[in-house]
Amino acid sequence: MKAAVLYERQAPLKVEVIDLDPPKAGEVRVKIVANGVCHSDYSVIHGVVPLPLPVVLGHEGAGIVEEVGTGVTLVKPGDHVVLSAIPYCGQCYYCSLGEFVQCDNTAVVMGRGTMPDGTCRLHKNGTTLHHMVGLSSMAEYAVVAERACVKIPLEVPLQVACLVGCGVMTGVEAAINTANVAAGSSAVVIGCGGVGVNVIQGCVLAGAATIIAVDLLDNKLEAAARFGATHTINPQRQDVPKTVRSLTDGRGADYAFEVIGLGKTIEMAYACVRRRGMAVVVGAAARDDRVTLPAASFLSEKILKGSAYGSSRPRVDLPRLIDLYLKKKLKLDELVTRTYRLDEVNQAMTALEKGEVVRSVVVM
Ligand SMILES: NC(=O)c1ccc[n+]([C@@H]2O[C@H](COP(=O)([O-])OP(=O)(O)OC[C@H]3O[C@@H](n4cnc5c(N)ncnc54)[C@H](O)[C@@H]3O)[C@@H](O)[C@H]2O)c1
Ligand SMILES: [Zn+2]
Ligand SMILES: [Zn+2]
Repeated sequence: MKAAVLYERQAPLKVEVIDLDPPKAGEVRVKIVANGVCHSDYSVIHGVVPLPLPVVLGHEGAGIVEEVGTGVTLVKPGDHVVLSAIPYCGQCYYCSLGEFVQCDNTAVVMGRGTMPDGTCRLHKNGTTLHHMVGLSSMAEYAVVAERACVKIPLEVPLQVACLVGCGVMTGVEAAINTANVAAGSSAVVIGCGGVGVNVIQGCVLAGAATIIAVDLLDNKLEAAARFGATHTINPQRQDVPKTVRSLTDGRGADYAFEVIGLGKTIEMAYACVRRRGMAVVVGAAARDDRVTLPAASFLSEKILKGSAYGSSRPRVDLPRLIDLYLKKKLKLDELVTRTYRLDEVNQAMTALEKGEVVRSVVVM
């Protein structure tokens, strides 16, 4: 099968024919139909997310189950599935608490670039290739844990459903689950790319009255408005915390979301919220980046909170998001600015880097 392999950081991906082992017990082989291009893939290429190399990228995939390993009960061949970007184990301390995104297994799988059992299913000429979050769906096929598969109705186009696997879940659930945005409240979203516009959609679903979008690119601010932002700020022209205060009766917003992954913009999010407000960090920052906050400001009882995969429960929240799409309450088709073929994946990365797209999707 063909897959997009990263051999060297900062270098283009190589689209080449590689070998994929059959599924082991509890695993399934999925024929990938489409895979969205997320900034986290780009961050792996640039070492911001340091995965072991070589690695097959991709973690926002959807496709059709073709083969199941022994003991698989959650899906069967022919099922249409979205792949969840969190390979939770279901048994550890965190899974027992229902805090799936913090699963012990997920941290291990992500860090060592393997399947949950610690081995890899991907090879090229005898060399082992690593997995990205146990998925590696920027490929024609993927062998994944059955728990990573969430079955969806056949009527949902896989070309848009794939986006729910990472960007939509991360963004919408950051607003609904992590922050628990209240109806009538105000929220600032800093960074309006593929994930940020979904934070905006989450704020809309939760009933936020004022949604302020912040981005350096005017085309992103226009997209933010189409997804429900009521106000836009370009930091190159306006002071962000000051403008946010002017739009919120001088107080600051109830919530601010950082959806870029930079210490500086995390500080900005914190500065945008009112006393007792909540700043939520969705962006994945580099390990050496730092956040500096005014220590005295904690008397204002502001909350600074992280959010991984929207603090979601994949088997509950992913079907709900698909249902919202079918009921026309969640926009998915509008997220896809461009589609690419697998051998055009480097062009898709360049389009992401230049900020030309809300989301692009590689169609296999
Ligand atoms: N927490 C999670 O579970 C999770 C999941 C997926 C993605 N992420 C992370 O979320 C972040 C966003 O991902 P994405 O796919 O939406 O990326 P993206 O590239 O599509 O969007 C980023 C946006 O930020 C804007 N931006 C960049 N620097 C800025 C600045 N200084 N001020 C204002 N705007 C700025 C860009 O113009 C762009 O619109 C990344 O860090 C990604 O790794 C986190
Ligand atoms: Zn992602
Ligand atoms: Zn677990």
